[in-house]
Formats: sequence, C-alpha cells, structure tokens
Amino acid sequence: MNRSKTDNRTGQYNQQTGHVRRFNTGVKWLAGTAAGLLIAAFVWLPRENQAGAPEITVYKSPTCGCCSKWVDHMEKAGFKVVSHDRQDMNQIKAEHGVDYALRSCHTALVDGYVIEGHVPAADIRRLLQERPAMDGLAVPGMPAGSPGMEGRYAEPYDVIAFTKGKKSSVFEKH
Ligand code: CU
Ligand code: CU
Repeated sequence: MNRSKTDNRTGQYNQQTGHVRRFNTGVKWLAGTAAGLLIAAFVWLPRENQAGAPEITVYKSPTCGCCSKWVDHMEKAGFKVVSHDRQDMNQIKAEHGVDYALRSCHTALVDGYVIEGHVPAADIRRLLQERPAMDGLAVPGMPAGSPGMEGRYAEPYDVIAFTKGKKSSVFEKH
C-alpha cells in the first residue's frame, strides 16, 4: 500500500521532472545560443574596429603646422585621431620614454604604443598587426618628405622602433 503510493508519487514526480527537464533544456539552449552570439559580437566588434579605425591620441604644440598635416595624413589613412594641444611637449616625451635622440615635434599614443614624429600611417598599421615587444616608433627630427613634411624635396629617413629610448632598431626605411 505504502509502496504503491510511493510508486505513484515517483511516477508523477518523474513526469514532472521530465517536463521541467525538457523546458530547462530549451531555455538552456536559447540562453547558450544568445550568450554565444553575444560573445561572438564582443570578440568580433573590437577586432573590426582595430582593423578599421584604430584610435590614436596626439599631443602637439598649438602652433605646430606640420603636426596638423600629420594628423590629416592619419585621418586620411583611416585612423580616428584625438588631438590635444599642449605646451609641455618635452615633459610628455619624457613621460613616455622618448629619448632626446629620438624626439620630433608631436607625440602620439595608439593601443599601448608611443608614436614620435612623422611616422607613416602604414608603418603604424604594421606595428599594430605585428605587435613587437617595443615601446613605440619614432622618426627623429622632421625629415623632408615624411607624412606632414611634404615639400619641394624628400630625403631618405628611417622609422625607428624603440624601447624606453635604450634599445632601438630600424623598423622601416623610406
Ligand atoms: Cu613636425
Ligand atoms: Cu608634429
């Protein structure tokens, strides 16, 4: 008598559990799919932004004409430029480990790297793709013919990859 009651209960219970399980499986599947799609979107979107329009922050003196031309060059190349006019350029360069020998006019920051001077946008894109263990790129001085320094003549120049101004190597020759 007792047993039959228990069996009955168990039967009902199992039936309910079956329902609950089927419901849960459906909800879990939906939630799993939704989460998967969300994760895919979050992983995909930043990569797309990085490849499409990386954001670069530029510090420059308010009176620097060639700096503005370099900003134009970067925007034309598809970068999103956030520009700040600053008077304390030497301090900014020191803060970001740009040695005296590497210095130019403006200093920029992109995705954890320091960009000093008239570095071509294509080299910055390659830097962001290859991600070498360096602090950044520099074009020391302001060589004629570099982006933003176009004029009557052009001179050959090197883009230097540097680490805190100590170790440096030629990243690209132009
Ligand atoms: Cu300049
Ligand atoms: Cu500049």
